[in-house]
Amino acid sequence: MNDKLTRWNRVKEVCLSCSACPLASRRTNVVFGEGVLEAPVMFVGEGPGEQEDLQGRPFVGPAGQLLDRMLAAIDLSREKNAIICNIVKCRPPGNRVPTPEEGEKCLPFLRAQVDIVRPRIIVCLGATAVRHIIGPEARITRTRGQWAERKGFWITSTYHPAALLRDTSRKAEAWSDMQSIRAKLVELGLATPASSSR
Ligand code: URA
Repeated sequence: MNDKLTRWNRVKEVCLSCSACPLASRRTNVVFGEGVLEAPVMFVGEGPGEQEDLQGRPFVGPAGQLLDRMLAAIDLSREKNAIICNIVKCRPPGNRVPTPEEGEKCLPFLRAQVDIVRPRIIVCLGATAVRHIIGPEARITRTRGQWAERKGFWITSTYHPAALLRDTSRKAEAWSDMQSIRAKLVELGLATPASSSR
């Protein structure tokens, strides 16, 4: 087993038995994260929904299907070259937004995941990821499509796919954000310009 996988599995094992916040008591499954440990890009959502809780996998419900299509449009996938995690690993009841305390309790797991994968790019999906990763005052409407380099990571954000399902008028901006991610991958020498498709 390679070193990254060993470390990933070790953190995952701890996460699977975590009871640090009240979300633990109502979960069916912990949703640790999924994808390629060598991935150049990590996408970070908010927290598991109903389907994710049932299956123990991130972004497998309707928002996840849209996310997979958004990734495919820029030649990314969780099977091949991307990794998908969440701010909180247990489903908030009724899909409510996790409280700042729940997010803080869970963040050491995300930090460990970032430390193991060392992605070149981190993409915040939606307001919760933006607040926890970019800063408590940051707002998705201002940060989306923007880039900041921090501690060797290129960080950007776009709308959460569930928000795009609710409000399709944001899709053009999300498309532009995905193109910007593609362009950053090309700029960093991690993708070739020709391999993008819609
Ligand atoms: N929404 C999220 O933020 N994460 C998931 O895993 C699924 C839906």
